[in-house]
Amino acid sequence: MRAVAYSVIFQGLSLAVSLPLADSFPGHDCVVDNRTLDEIYAAAQKESGELTVFWGGDEISQGDPTITAWNARFPNVKLNLTVDVSKYLDSRIDRQFQKTGDDGADLAVIQTTHDYSRWKREGRLLPYKPANWNNIYPALKDPNGAFFGIFVYQFGSLIYNSDRLNESQLPNSYADFVDPAWKGKLVLTYPNDDDAIGYLFSVLIDKYGWEWFETLSQQDVQWIRGTGQPTDVVAKGNTTRVLSFTSNLTGPKNLASKILDVPRVLWPQRGAIFSSTKRPESAKLFLSWLISDEFQQGLASEGRYLSVKNLNSTSGSVWNEPNTGITQFGTFMEDRANVEWWRFQYETTIGTAQGVSPILSV
Ligand SMILES: *[C@@H]1O[C@H](CO)[C@@H](O)[C@H](O)[C@H]1NC(C)=O
Ligand SMILES: *[C@@H]1O[C@H](CO)[C@@H](O)[C@H](O)[C@H]1NC(C)=O
Ligand SMILES: *[C@@H]1O[C@H](CO)[C@@H](O)[C@H](O)[C@H]1NC(C)=O
Ligand SMILES: *[C@@H]1O[C@H](CO)[C@@H](O)[C@H](O)[C@H]1NC(C)=O
Ligand SMILES: *[C@@H]1O[C@H](CO)[C@@H](O)[C@H](O)[C@H]1NC(C)=O
Ligand SMILES: *[C@@H]1O[C@H](CO)[C@@H](O)[C@H](O)[C@H]1NC(C)=O
Repeated sequence: MRAVAYSVIFQGLSLAVSLPLADSFPGHDCVVDNRTLDEIYAAAQKESGELTVFWGGDEISQGDPTITAWNARFPNVKLNLTVDVSKYLDSRIDRQFQKTGDDGADLAVIQTTHDYSRWKREGRLLPYKPANWNNIYPALKDPNGAFFGIFVYQFGSLIYNSDRLNESQLPNSYADFVDPAWKGKLVLTYPNDDDAIGYLFSVLIDKYGWEWFETLSQQDVQWIRGTGQPTDVVAKGNTTRVLSFTSNLTGPKNLASKILDVPRVLWPQRGAIFSSTKRPESAKLFLSWLISDEFQQGLASEGRYLSVKNLNSTSGSVWNEPNTGITQFGTFMEDRANVEWWRFQYETTIGTAQGVSPILSV
């Protein structure tokens, strides 16, 4: 029974070029692809053209580690990975699809979690269950294999310049940010320009009230586009800005972080293959590799939370995170009317996001 199902699916995939929807949703399921990465790599090398990946981020350099690691591991499958803000990548994907029936990328790994459920409903995703499928937490994957969480991303911990602030000087609560001592010291991402930051502020306002937000807005905050950019400002050290909470810890050695005992935003960054792909094996290789032990072990060693349960991160399990449920952001994102309601609440107080798209600002 299993073998029969597998061969039907296999044929469906080989037809994917001429019949892009034959293999997609709704109504299609698939078995776990138990091939090794090297076996999939062999199949991928028979495909032509470059694997086009859309990768959510706000600085082009955020794609570099993945590109470098891919080129070292799979040199014969050419990767074209484009980093841009997720809300513009999904826009481009949808526009290209409307114009041509092609999604413009073989796969996408982006922040806008709600797109994946919509694309699934629209029959635009290729079901795929990589070998590590059964290790992915059930709450972080689509049961039919349309998409799954690859990375656990987060915002909300304090990121500060450790040359210019000692840990003991940091606020102990978000409530402290309205203290005059922090006037002119903060650099924050516009909550009306990024839904993850929008969600973070909604959680903080639920806890501390509108007065907190309104007073914060009087603190001469440097509002900025992008979530990578605040750490750049804080790290440079040639401004009065020493602290952010809308970014995460990256390379520079003079940055440090502190987690406050309040809600943060955590979410599974999802990946999925478009059923319009002309390189299904290369796309499967990419997703299989990202969720493989050899890749996820690197994240575990860096202390990142994981979407797989068979490896131990030095931070422990994401399910033990005391302040934030990892699936809450996805619930927020599905309700677009509510997201828009919050966006205009922020804009009412701090105005529209100023400046060029963050991807162009560095
Ligand atoms: C891989 O999956 C196929 C189809 O489900 C099955 O026939 C085969 O026995 C599996 N091989 C291994 C090594 O698990
Ligand atoms: C990579 O993909 C992007 C997005 O489709 C495209 O604009 C760009 O021309 C491609 N780059 C190369 C070198 O093919
Ligand atoms: C956090 O930082 C890492 C680099 O350490 C980066 O790859 C990742 O995209 C960042 N973003 C989030 C939201 O965690
Ligand atoms: C941090 O604390 C040390 C030891 O008390 C002190 O020498 C240093 O000046 C402090 N740094 C800042 C930026 O206040
Ligand atoms: C800080 O230094 C960077 C270069 O390292 C420069 O681009 C930026 O304009 C400087 N900012 C200020 C406020 O001087
Ligand atoms: C993870 O940690 C648990 C509890 O300490 C241990 O039982 C398990 O063997 C560890 N797993 C791995 C893959 O290291």
